Amino acid sequence: MYKFEYDLLGDSKRTAYIQDLSAGDEGKTKTIMGWVHTRRDMGNIIFINLRDVTGMVQVVFNPENGMQMHAKAHKLRNEYVVAVTGEVATRPKDMINEDMEKGDIEFIAKELKILNASDELPVQVNEKMSADEDLRLKYRYLDLRRPDLQKKIKLRHNIIFEMRKFLSNHKFYEIETPILMRSTPEGARDYLVPSRIYKGKFFALPQSPQIYKQLLMISGFDRYFQIAHCFRDEDLRADRQPEFTQLDLEMSFVQEEDVFQITEQLFQHIFKSTLDTDLPIPFPRIDYDEAMLKFGTDKPDLRFGLEIKDLTETLAESDFRVFSSVIKKGGVVRAINAKGCADYTRSEVDKLEHQAKELGAKGLARMRFQDEKLESNITKFFSEEEKGQIADILEAEEDDLLLFVADKEKIACKVLADLRNNLGKKLNLINEDEFNFVWVTNFPLFEWNGDEEKWETAHHMFTLPKEEDIPKLDEPDKYGEITGQLYDLVCNGVELSSGSIRCHIPEIQKKIFNVIGIEEEEINQRFGFFMKSFKYGTPPHGGIAPGIDRIVMLMSGADSIRDVIAFPKTLQATDIMSESPSEVDPDMLEELGIEISEIE
Ligand code: AMO
Ligand code: AMP
Repeated sequence: MYKFEYDLLGDSKRTAYIQDLSAGDEGKTKTIMGWVHTRRDMGNIIFINLRDVTGMVQVVFNPENGMQMHAKAHKLRNEYVVAVTGEVATRPKDMINEDMEKGDIEFIAKELKILNASDELPVQVNEKMSADEDLRLKYRYLDLRRPDLQKKIKLRHNIIFEMRKFLSNHKFYEIETPILMRSTPEGARDYLVPSRIYKGKFFALPQSPQIYKQLLMISGFDRYFQIAHCFRDEDLRADRQPEFTQLDLEMSFVQEEDVFQITEQLFQHIFKSTLDTDLPIPFPRIDYDEAMLKFGTDKPDLRFGLEIKDLTETLAESDFRVFSSVIKKGGVVRAINAKGCADYTRSEVDKLEHQAKELGAKGLARMRFQDEKLESNITKFFSEEEKGQIADILEAEEDDLLLFVADKEKIACKVLADLRNNLGKKLNLINEDEFNFVWVTNFPLFEWNGDEEKWETAHHMFTLPKEEDIPKLDEPDKYGEITGQLYDLVCNGVELSSGSIRCHIPEIQKKIFNVIGIEEEEINQRFGFFMKSFKYGTPPHGGIAPGIDRIVMLMSGADSIRDVIAFPKTLQATDIMSESPSEVDPDMLEELGIEISEIE
């Protein structure tokens, strides 16, 4: 017979997962299988921590229980794969290892099979994220063995399982929609797939199943959901991946309130069933306008205060030209009170100013509130009355530091939102254990694109305006005042979900296309099939799409969504492990009728 260096499973059968071993099994014989997590070879007695998908236990190889087995155990190295038959023993009280879940027991080996070996590891499995991320991604299959990542992926499974359960119990059907499809209008760049049969023609990968989920409502399915893979070729960030997963859902005969309710119940169910956390519902709501004014962003982190205050009216006539000239040009002056930060050194404040400038600010004016008055190099420009109002509006108290931005509203919002988040962290105002949900509602339907001088839809072009705003679609000077039936669900400053009530009336849809400057011809060419479908009895409908990766990221306390995706892409949108994207065989290109022009 051929001789292997390793043992074969043979008649060995796993009789327990490590999680299932307990002090109650004292003296019982079990067979466990897994990887050598760590080893301590004391010469006489060898200890290993054996890891399987459920947990870890200390295994003891004592020569008294078999010289041959003991000799074999000397060969064990990290990440060797073994099957061990032995007995559970409870540890004496003073020997309990509090750092290990199974620290009250150990496993006394009687028989050892070495099923496989491991080369020297390029990334360590038994250490906390030590290697740099590129190396970890290159050896992702090893990185995924780390208990920390295993826990996150398990939580992801549990969350998705509970989503399916909840929605199935609420009359939703899970329906798959195509991956090869026509380009959808989500607003990012598409990933394209060339057609071999129809050279020069392309499928697009879905940016979301938006069109299909609406078609399913037209088909009469009433309630649909899907764990949907979405693809967007856009700039990546810590909470953005080129391919990601949405819990996509859509409902017929509903209004905003109905979508809010089912979404709140869904989140409450997921948090209770997977983290045993009670989420109070309904979630609070904030208007888009108020969020922008007080927090500078439509995804405010409401775990802490530090609200932004508007001083535009107060300082319109001030002698400080930096402010008054901006206001005259239609800009704003807004400020934030960095509580108790009057003792920040010059270089600390300069650093904040530097960050503000990187986001487009022209400066970051400052005042300290000390000895009951405002002090700084610019206070001389303000009247006593103005200074009094500044202190009042910003609720200045002893040792506060006030920071001002004068700019176009958009820039002031962006800069102060960023500053607010920085200060929240710096001043330790954030309770990391809190999940602070808020609905952001009443978004404008359209946004003015100053660069291209045209109106664009704030979310997507299939959103219904508020009923009372529908007539404004005929009044060009009121486009900016139209509110959409459009909402985001935000948690701890992360946009978790987004959705809307859709426009199910073709006339209104056509008007929306007109506002954003899409002509009839283009409509017919891009979504003719979709527009046609609306003519045959379309129910009112709406929905939402929670981003699963972001949900798992928040719920598991991960810093990046890459930690909750089994095989994520790098920030450069590549897969280091499989080295993709990659060049392909010239024959394949020829078959597709594709020629690559010179690459710089
Ligand atoms: P939207 O484009 O806002 O809406 O996406 C919905 C949610 O999906 C998540 N998400 C992402 N997660 C990771 N990486 C990305 N690149 C990424 N992009 C989006 C976010 C976001 O809130 N069809 C509409 C939904 C609807 O109207 O029902 C849509 O896709 O959590
Ligand atoms: P200057 O007169 O340009 O030296 O500016 C005086 C102070 O005002 C400095 O602290 C600048 O950082 C600040 N400053 C300049 N421009 C702005 C602006 N647009 N918004 C807020 N502060 C500004």
